[in-house]
Amino acid sequence: MSPAKPTQSRPSEPRLGLENLGLGVGLRAPHFRYLLEHWPAVDWFEIISENYIDSQGRPRYVLDQVAERYPVVMHGVSLSIGSTDPLDFAYLGKLKKLAGEINARWISDHVCWTGVNGQNTHDLLPIPYNEATLQHVAQRVRQVQAFLERPLVLEDPSSYVTFADSTMTEWEFLTALTQETGCGLLLDVNNVYVSSVNHDFDPVEYIENIPWQNVVQFHLAGHTNMGDYCIDTHDGHVIDPVWKLYQLAHERTGGVSTLLEWDANIPDFPTMHAEVLKAQKLIQGETLASDVAEENAPHAGSVVPHPAHHIDHEVG
Ligand SMILES: [Fe+2]
Repeated sequence: MSPAKPTQSRPSEPRLGLENLGLGVGLRAPHFRYLLEHWPAVDWFEIISENYIDSQGRPRYVLDQVAERYPVVMHGVSLSIGSTDPLDFAYLGKLKKLAGEINARWISDHVCWTGVNGQNTHDLLPIPYNEATLQHVAQRVRQVQAFLERPLVLEDPSSYVTFADSTMTEWEFLTALTQETGCGLLLDVNNVYVSSVNHDFDPVEYIENIPWQNVVQFHLAGHTNMGDYCIDTHDGHVIDPVWKLYQLAHERTGGVSTLLEWDANIPDFPTMHAEVLKAQKLIQGETLASDVAEENAPHAGSVVPHPAHHIDHEVG
């Protein structure tokens, strides 16, 4: 049985040769049964690469079934592109093999490091943004791309600390990295929001200054607001300020593959899918409920105010 028709019309212009897949969701184990029974009308799925590269059991069976019916993208958490440890070519070999077997449209990971001296922290740690780390990361990206024989797609991390050694902003670093390597970018709009609160920068300035011609994918997710900082928990609905940033990013790119991440307190599949389908309405110009409220308020006027002023608007 094949899935029903996709939900989003797709612009024809691929970026870096990577097409706009539409509106997708992460492939997660609690939904396996539902998917096998219903084959819902989802445009595409993203997998966490590490959940499948060493697995030949039921997860791999389900993935093969899914890959026969939907486009699949591989998203990893172990590349550690910013580390000073040597690149793990055994791991890269597994990525490449799986990508071939499931016809993965692209392979992504994060601008981060996860460990050093062979120790894995199992966390996505930020790097200093300066010329030395740029050259270090860029030569590793070039090595990975040569090995994988495809563009690597890298995601902006959510972060909670910054480095005194940084001499450039994150968006300046990403711009330089794309210029040095030609890599693609996965712009996690929620991460931009989370980091903007944690480090007190303007997320609109960030989005307006990223090299949007290299952006091939968006991530959307919920997070947890702790009052004076945010944690990237992926445990709920996307909040309106993040949707507004997504609208802006969508305008800047003209539309690229969009993926909802929901990794804790995972709801049933239709609820999760409905969340990403909200993007379709925003793309078509529908107004957010918080915009309507703002228009009716006496102090209306700002387009996308600084997120620190938006804490009260959060719903998830
Ligand atoms: Fe993400």
